[in-house]
Amino acid sequence: MCPEYKPKIVAFCCNWCGYPAADLAGIQRIQYPDSLRIIRVMCSGMVHPEMVLHALNQGADGVMIIGCHLGECHYIDGNEKAMARAELIDELLEDFGFESDRFLITRLSSSEPEQFARTASSMDKRVRELGPNPHRFQDKGDTR
Ligand code: FES
Repeated sequence: MCPEYKPKIVAFCCNWCGYPAADLAGIQRIQYPDSLRIIRVMCSGMVHPEMVLHALNQGADGVMIIGCHLGECHYIDGNEKAMARAELIDELLEDFGFESDRFLITRLSSSEPEQFARTASSMDKRVRELGPNPHRFQDKGDTR
């Protein structure tokens, strides 16, 4: 692995749990990797598989979806829909030549900043072990 490799991980965080947990981690000064690029969405159920693929096609090294615990989605069953799509996303990634480990979906509550930081660190480690997005250099002429 390239020593200066700094992964970029897109983290779609729902407005009601994932995002506030990230915010609380910041407020409480709980360290998590700076590889995360957080995108706030109203609900994890809004993250279509195409959005995950788009992020990877644009050069992200990993993508996370962080929603509310089951039974706590503010839009009733958005997180259940997101979980149901996860299998499809794994298959899509494989079809497009990405390792399925570049994608992670998880759930937590707004009061779990430590869990947020642990999940972010674990994903960061996983993506570092995989190395850079294999399509980043080929398709975009990007030399980052
Ligand atoms: Fe958080 Fe739906 S509002 S997953």
